Amino acid sequence: MESYGLIWLTCDVSVMLNPTSERDVWLEILVRELPDERIYLWPDVADPDSVEFAVFWHHDPADLLRYPKLRTILSVSAGVEQFLGGVYPEVPIVRLSDPAMAAEMAAYAVHWVVHFHRRMATYLELQSVSEWRPIRTVDAHGFPVGILGYGVMGRTVGEALTRLGYPLGAWTRSGGQDADVTHFRGSDGLDQMLSTSAAVINILPLTPYTEGLINADRFAQFRRGALYMSMGRGGTTVEADLLAALDRGPLGTAVLDVTAAEPLPTGSPLWNHPRVRITPHASGFTRARTAAPLVAANIRRVRRGEQPFPLYDPLRGY
Ligand code: GLV
Repeated sequence: MESYGLIWLTCDVSVMLNPTSERDVWLEILVRELPDERIYLWPDVADPDSVEFAVFWHHDPADLLRYPKLRTILSVSAGVEQFLGGVYPEVPIVRLSDPAMAAEMAAYAVHWVVHFHRRMATYLELQSVSEWRPIRTVDAHGFPVGILGYGVMGRTVGEALTRLGYPLGAWTRSGGQDADVTHFRGSDGLDQMLSTSAAVINILPLTPYTEGLINADRFAQFRRGALYMSMGRGGTTVEADLLAALDRGPLGTAVLDVTAAEPLPTGSPLWNHPRVRITPHASGFTRARTAAPLVAANIRRVRRGEQPFPLYDPLRGY
């Protein structure tokens, strides 16, 4: 009888789960990983009073008021700008830091850097006229890449590029000390990195500090013909200034996986610009297979009284 009592007690904690995709896979993995909790796939929350954990990317903040015991929000996204402005209950918010997502993003970045560095589009044109003509571009050593934002994502992208021989710069607020990386910080450091990079990859989170950071003044610093790749948050780039920098220089090409408004509105001039490549926020997906076990591990940490990670810091904005 006592053991029944124990099971009843431990099952008194539940998780409200509202992932954006792969809902059944999320449910299956969390049920397996968290045998002591009940997992409610939103909106079927049978016992709101027992919900201590909420797992989602976007969710109506008003709904969270139905869960008086809510103690932790676990985001299934790496970026957490949805929490800026503080409309959500004041509980710790955990970001998703999934190495598998970072690896996907690295593959995306490597693809485009190689595509433009090695002039792959030109080979398509040559093929269309049956012309066999190797193009000797500079080698990777002569094609420096600068990364804006050097957290888990930026670092994974950077390491992939370094392994291929691309000289790497990284711009962050606080600098860093990695071997093989030239670290830049502050406003001067930013301009220095922009002006020395053949390709600039923006993986910054959206915060009050980074919003509109890459504007006309910054584009003016880019190397002539440089590639700009945006794969963090669209709001960090001023799109009118980006278009001007493409049309009047110095920018060569832009690859945009993220835009200020998503989906990118049909009438946006970015869609048809000949030197812009658009992908629909697809450089790295949240995949239940790898992300759900990470979320479950953080829930277990909280239940053991340990700190989950990485924690969203409202002061930093990410
Ligand atoms: C995707 O953009 C994410 O933040 O996970």
